[in-house]
Amino acid sequence: MSILVTGGAGFIGSHIVDSLISEGHDVIVLDDLSEGKREHVNKSAKFYKSGLNDAGLGKIFQKEKIEVVFHQAAQVSVRESLDNPIFDADVNIKGTINLLECCREVDKIIYASSGGAVYGEPKYLPVDEEHPTNPLSPYGVSKYIAEKYLQVYKELYGLNYAALRYGNVYGPRQDPYGEAGVVAIFANKMLRSERPMINGDGTQTRDFVYVSDIVRANLLAIERGKNIYNITAGKETSVNEIFAAIKKILNTNVEPEHAPPIKGEVRRIYLNIEKAERELGWKPEVELEEGIKNLLEYMRQKI
Ligand SMILES: NC(=O)c1ccc[n+]([C@@H]2O[C@H](COP(=O)([O-])OP(=O)(O)OC[C@H]3O[C@@H](n4cnc5c(N)ncnc54)[C@H](O)[C@@H]3O)[C@@H](O)[C@H]2O)c1
Repeated sequence: MSILVTGGAGFIGSHIVDSLISEGHDVIVLDDLSEGKREHVNKSAKFYKSGLNDAGLGKIFQKEKIEVVFHQAAQVSVRESLDNPIFDADVNIKGTINLLECCREVDKIIYASSGGAVYGEPKYLPVDEEHPTNPLSPYGVSKYIAEKYLQVYKELYGLNYAALRYGNVYGPRQDPYGEAGVVAIFANKMLRSERPMINGDGTQTRDFVYVSDIVRANLLAIERGKNIYNITAGKETSVNEIFAAIKKILNTNVEPEHAPPIKGEVRRIYLNIEKAERELGWKPEVELEEGIKNLLEYMRQKI
């Protein structure tokens, strides 16, 4: 198949590209390289340096006869969305609409949504797909609104879609200097024997999922995905537990520093993944310890 991956130079998108190529697909990457790296784009993929809102997007679709789209490109920073909500909406909402306008003839679009951002403060745990959506940031709103556009394009034009609500994804190629991605940030610091910063007391919990599990869910969604799925480990892990797991693997005596808790962050969250197991035939396979070891191995080679 001829498959377009937006954001294919980014952390998750570049792994999706690698996997699609190893399965024999023709892969076209679209990325403006605002965050992604050209060297992360598989050499067998065709690369367009282009933004989601560029006027030439339609021409790429015509030329490449795209059949399936993986939409990973986004403004991904919660903090940036608070500082500059118009820019966030421009990329995540307007950019998605611009992409959808080019997608009317494609078979399916698979969209990267966020389980951590669209639900808001959980009313019950684990959070399933029926849980109310009350985003706490402009980023959460924009990721959610894009899902709604997918539903509308399905109704209006029959465009098939799957929206995968990821948990906290970690793994090789993740930016260890970003605001999110606590596993990569801690691993990078602790490999250098530096003290990582824990916001608050570290008992806040998240649902961490290794990037190869996310990739597998995306590929399964080509055939089987037909609406919205939580894709994550389905396990609750505290920030303190992440710190302890890295500390144990590295066998270091580094201690964390503490900063005040970040306002507006949810205290506890983990997701119910039964729907993805049932409908996509997907299950996470990589345990936290194994995933962290893989990440540390990758980071060691980069130092
Ligand atoms: N990393 C996570 O834990 C996580 C969790 C939930 C959802 N997501 C979603 O997964 C997707 C991928 O995230 P990631 O962690 O790989 O981030 P990333 O920043 O590594 O990848 C995003 C890519 O999109 C590109 N991009 C940004 N704006 C663009 C634009 N206007 N036009 C074209 N390209 C543009 C960037 O250059 C980058 O390569 C995003 O949609 C994000 O919202 C990620």
